[in-house]
Amino acid sequence: MAVQTVPVVTIDGPSGSGKGTIARRVAQALGWHLLDSGALYRLVALAAARRGISQDDDAALGALAAEMRVRFDSNDAGEERIWLGNEDVTDEVRTEDCGRGASRVAVMPAVRQALVGLQESFRRMPGLVADGRDMGTRIFPQAQVKVFLTASPSERAKRRHKQLKDKGIDVSLPALSRDIEARDKRDSERSIDPLRPADDARELDSSKLTIDEVSQLVLDWVGERCKES
Ligand code: DC
Repeated sequence: MAVQTVPVVTIDGPSGSGKGTIARRVAQALGWHLLDSGALYRLVALAAARRGISQDDDAALGALAAEMRVRFDSNDAGEERIWLGNEDVTDEVRTEDCGRGASRVAVMPAVRQALVGLQESFRRMPGLVADGRDMGTRIFPQAQVKVFLTASPSERAKRRHKQLKDKGIDVSLPALSRDIEARDKRDSERSIDPLRPADDARELDSSKLTIDEVSQLVLDWVGERCKES
């Protein structure tokens, strides 16, 4: 009997490029599973802060990442929830502070290593859409479709600003821009699995495109690849 491989779409890119939104749309349209890998690094940062573990203690952070009990599900209203043990930490995980911490702990080799198996376990039938920084380069190098999603730094800052404002969080645009720049630098200059397009990724600049247009393009690429294989 032929072994069926689980198809994977990877969407990597810098902060604010819209990869989370697009990954969610594409997963919904295909009826596939979704992996928000950034949330895992955010959970490590959150759990470390609570336990008083320093953001540069590689061994302690790695052990924490390995033992962390994580669950993603949705509530009755259909909203996604993120659980750390028995606690719903969705709102805390989404803060800018947690994002900054995630970018710092993500530099640690033991943390990245500890999260490999957990990320791979999301690959289940009928398929997976995974978003992050190293989905196409490191975690799912055999993915059928790899997208590297970008947008200009000013557009990304504007989008993030709007997202936060919609949630009632007031952050200054220049401060956000500086933060995004610092995160881009840290994520792309780290020595292990830095943010970069896979050699076989299709690069897509979403600056002047709507969410619908980007999602449709990705779905078209998935359709093309599925026809080929
Ligand atoms: O996508 P995000 O903003 O939730 O990611 C938060 C941080 O986590 C990001 O700045 C770098 C890190 N990260 C990573 O190193 N590798 C991934 N695959 C996903 C996120």
